Amino acid sequence: MNKRVVLASYPEGWVTESNFRLETAPIPKPGEGEVLVKNLWLSLDPYMRGRMSQQKSYVKGVEIGEVMTGETAGEVVESKHPKFKPGDKVTAPSGWQLHWCGKGEMLTKVDASKAPLSYFLGCLGMPGRTAYFGTKDICQPKPGETVVVSAASGAVGSVVGQLAKAWGCRAVGIAGGKAKCDYVVKELGFDACIDYKAGNLYDNLKAACPKGVDCLFENVGGEILDTTLRLMNVRGRITICGLISDYNAKEPYGLKNFRSILVNRLTVRGMIVFDWVERYPEANRDLLELVIGGKLKYRESVVQGIENAPKGLIGLLKGDNFGKQLVKLT
Ligand SMILES: NC(=O)c1ccc[n+]([C@@H]2O[C@H](COP(=O)([O-])OP(=O)(O)OC[C@H]3O[C@@H](n4cnc5c(N)ncnc54)[C@H](OP(=O)(O)O)[C@@H]3O)[C@@H](O)[C@H]2O)c1
Repeated sequence: MNKRVVLASYPEGWVTESNFRLETAPIPKPGEGEVLVKNLWLSLDPYMRGRMSQQKSYVKGVEIGEVMTGETAGEVVESKHPKFKPGDKVTAPSGWQLHWCGKGEMLTKVDASKAPLSYFLGCLGMPGRTAYFGTKDICQPKPGETVVVSAASGAVGSVVGQLAKAWGCRAVGIAGGKAKCDYVVKELGFDACIDYKAGNLYDNLKAACPKGVDCLFENVGGEILDTTLRLMNVRGRITICGLISDYNAKEPYGLKNFRSILVNRLTVRGMIVFDWVERYPEANRDLLELVIGGKLKYRESVVQGIENAPKGLIGLLKGDNFGKQLVKLT
């Protein structure tokens, strides 16, 4: 039997476990052109909070009773598609379930001999590509410039800072707590990391950015974005990648330092990684090269079992994760 998690109700404010329901159903049989995949890993991502809502967004939300949306990495068990055979490792738009069956065209084959399979959901997958294009194309950092990234120990942020270092910049992270900040500096090689939970964010960030901030890669929004706006240099660039501090808020944070965009002639651009789909091979190639060369370090936070996926998502939205959040399905 297939096990899956469906959306039971829309949350108001914070997500709770009662918003989900675990179900069982027969494992589907592939038809012509279809592939059956056994999922080994499920990626948990902050965007899932947005899908648990009927608010207008860049993708339609999950309906009540529908399988929760999500990407998985797994193995082909049966194929009626000429491009796939049993044993192939793939990523799939499965949602929160143990098996997925659908058109082969929706699968991406990955080479798990080059890196662990789970990496293709993280630094070599959607979060890695988000970091790559948001930094390269929007922040456009030049050697010697200062790049600040929030949620710096996480799936996207950890890659942003390491790319900034690889491209000759000063990388400054912002993260919650000493352990995460120590990791960002000592393990990932950022120049500095500010613990926003320790207070004095403005003074501490100013001290870590003596030449001001040229690029901000924003994952959090709210007070962190507002504070960093005060330190931006003339003609700075800001990538608005995520606003996680607002995802469970009933009222969004109101920015006070909008004026900085005007006086500093900033370029501020929102991004959705799908807009770069034509160039995914470029990011996949460059990120894999950095991982193989030991220049891109990466950490995972793993919960065990599909039934614990709701707990994992709630923890991710609260910052309990330390690195890319995954569910190990077997
Ligand atoms: N635009 C796109 O195409 C795209 C694609 C992927 C991801 N994203 C966005 O990128 C951001 C990071 O995603 P990710 O997958 O890499 O997650 P992640 O950083 O691995 O995990 C989320 C982190 O956000 C931080 N956080 C949560 N609530 C916070 C708050 N109130 N204030 C400050 N920090 C808070 C926590 O870190 P601390 O403990 O350090 O606070 C938490 O660990 C999210 O906003 C996500 O929506 C956007």
